[in-house]
Amino acid sequence: MDQQNAHRPAGFGWHLASGVTVSGIEENRLTEIEVNSKRVGIVKRGGIVYAFTAKCPHAGVPLCTGWVDGLGRIVCPEHKYRFDPTNGRNTSGEGYKLFTYPVEIRSDEIWIGLVSLP
Ligand code: FES
Repeated sequence: MDQQNAHRPAGFGWHLASGVTVSGIEENRLTEIEVNSKRVGIVKRGGIVYAFTAKCPHAGVPLCTGWVDGLGRIVCPEHKYRFDPTNGRNTSGEGYKLFTYPVEIRSDEIWIGLVSLP
């Protein structure tokens, strides 16, 4: 384990989000991708890329069929619950938590930090 990942859980690794680049995705546009066999949602806001589980934690609807509101929150298309992509907080107050993933940018590439179960 290298120094940078010393505080990460066992099985943690960085995985390239193939087919997308920082410069190639639009600001505030939700995009669903597959990374290491996981469905992951990504969004770029203010030039920073955030990653989160692709399904809504409420009832499993694909979040990337929703939209980003004027405050930068992800809005689920089904019941309109809102989530902050920076930390997964359910800003509309229903008590759910959106799981977020660490993101690392290497040149223009997007790398997502995932834990793989053995
Ligand atoms: S399924 Fe997303 S808010 Fe209900």
